[in-house]
Amino acid sequence: MNKITSLNKLKYSENLLLIKEKALREDVPIVSDDVLTYLVKTIKLLEVKNILEIGTAIGYSSISMAINSVANIDTIERNEANFNQAIENIRMCKLNERIKVFNEDALTIDLKLLKDHYDLIFIDAAKAQMRKFFEKFSPKLSFNGVIIIDNLNFHGLVYGNIPIKNKNLKSLVRKIAEFNLWLSQKEDFETYFFSIGDGMAICRKKNE
Ligand SMILES: C[S@@+](CC[C@H](N)C(=O)[O-])C[C@H]1O[C@@H](n2cnc3c(N)ncnc32)[C@H](O)[C@@H]1O
Repeated sequence: MNKITSLNKLKYSENLLLIKEKALREDVPIVSDDVLTYLVKTIKLLEVKNILEIGTAIGYSSISMAINSVANIDTIERNEANFNQAIENIRMCKLNERIKVFNEDALTIDLKLLKDHYDLIFIDAAKAQMRKFFEKFSPKLSFNGVIIIDNLNFHGLVYGNIPIKNKNLKSLVRKIAEFNLWLSQKEDFETYFFSIGDGMAICRKKNE
């Protein structure tokens, strides 16, 4: 299909395309092209220097952000197999000086291991835990920094009026809807929601 977004000129190295193919082949969830374009646009507009990512998977989004900017990235992945694959992929792309992967659970990682502040925090891990991630990591935002959160419409199910029979899925979708509402009413942050990719939001702390 011919999409207007095909006119965007994101950089993809040969190795990055191999990583993307592998992720798609093996059903590893990775960021959509649209959300990636939004991330790169934001990184450039805000001249982002430091990024914190929650949810590395096999490194596709962090490598993409690194290739398309000058930012340094800290990224957290709890799954050991994904972590090992991410380390291998980052090494293959010669980006180990700029991307640091922590094999930790983001909910329990010691914040002292991370930098004091990040210009952009990308939340892309367990969808039932988004509020906990937001509350834990938002104090790490630098002045005027932003948080970007992916999958807020979870495969179109949160706002799709589609009957869901599976109990666990139903509970997850309800949690995401509650998180979205909570985020939209959060007075200390200015938040915008977009139907980009699987639904995403960008949030910036209001300056007192
Ligand atoms: C959607 S994938 C990340 C995709 C990646 N950002 C990309 O676009 O290439 C989500 C990842 O988050 C990891 N994850 C989920 N909950 C986590 C947690 N509490 N701490 C660290 N990683 C977590 C999962 O193991 C999975 O690899």
